[in-house]
Amino acid sequence: MPTSSSQIFIFLISMSISIVDGTQLIIVNNCKESIWPGILGSAGHQTPQDGGFHLYSGEQVSLQLPENWSGRIWGRQGCCFDQKTGKGSCLTGDCAGLLHCRGIGGVPPATVVEMTLGTSKSSLHYYDVSLVDGFNVPVSMSPIGGGVGCGLAACEADVNKCCPSALEMRRGGKVVGCKSACLASKSDKYCCTGQFASRQSCKPTVFSRVFKAICPRAYSYAYDDSTSLKVCKAPRYVITFCPPN
Ligand SMILES: *[C@@H]1O[C@H](CO)[C@@H](O)[C@H](O)[C@H]1NC(C)=O
Repeated sequence: MPTSSSQIFIFLISMSISIVDGTQLIIVNNCKESIWPGILGSAGHQTPQDGGFHLYSGEQVSLQLPENWSGRIWGRQGCCFDQKTGKGSCLTGDCAGLLHCRGIGGVPPATVVEMTLGTSKSSLHYYDVSLVDGFNVPVSMSPIGGGVGCGLAACEADVNKCCPSALEMRRGGKVVGCKSACLASKSDKYCCTGQFASRQSCKPTVFSRVFKAICPRAYSYAYDDSTSLKVCKAPRYVITFCPPN
C-alpha cells in the first residue's frame, strides 16, 4: 500500500529527527558518596528532571535537553530528604531544602557547570565550569564527538583540600566548601560589581589566582580569561562529578 508505507516512512523520518534533536547529557557520579545534582534552566528555558535528583556513587543518568537549551548544573552533597515529601537539606548546594529544585538555584559555595547549547544566532554550544560561586565538588564536562576545538571544561582537583582558611566553609570540623572571595567578602572589588564591574577594572586577586592555579580549566572570577569557555557542537556531553584526575 503506497499511502500507508509512505506514511510509515514519514513517521520514521520524523521519529529519527526528534531523536537527533537537542543534546544528550550523561551525568555520572564518580564520587565515593552520593551526589544530588541540581539543574536550573536560564530564564525562558525549561528545568529538566524537576530541577534535581539523587545519584548514588557509581550511578549515571542520561538527560535529553531541547535544542538551544541554556542553564546550569551543580552538585549537592551531604543531603538528607524525607522520602515522602522530598524536603530536607544539603550540606552544600542546597536549593531551599528541596530534592527537586524546581527553578531555585543552589546556595554557594558550589562548583557550577554552565552551558548554552545553541542560540537563535548560532548553533554552537558554549560551556564552562565556574568557581565564581565558589567550590564544593570537582566536576568536568566533556564532549563525545564534535571534533576539533571541542575541549574539556573542568575543575578536577579537590579545592577543599587547599582552600585558603579565610574562604573555608566547615561543617562538623570538615571543609565541605571553598567560598569565592566575593562570597566571603561581599565587596565590589572581589565581586566585580559597582566601580569594578568591567573587564578593565576587575582584575585577578590573590584568591582567584589560587583557584586558577588549582583548576586552570575553570572560571576563577567573573572576568577570567575566556580560555575557560569551551565552544563545540557535539551530540552528547558527559558531566562527571569527581572526575578521575
Ligand atoms: C535554535 O536556534 C536555531 C538557530 O541557531 C533556530 O533555527 C532553531 O529554530 C532554534 N530551535 C529552537 C527549538 O528554538
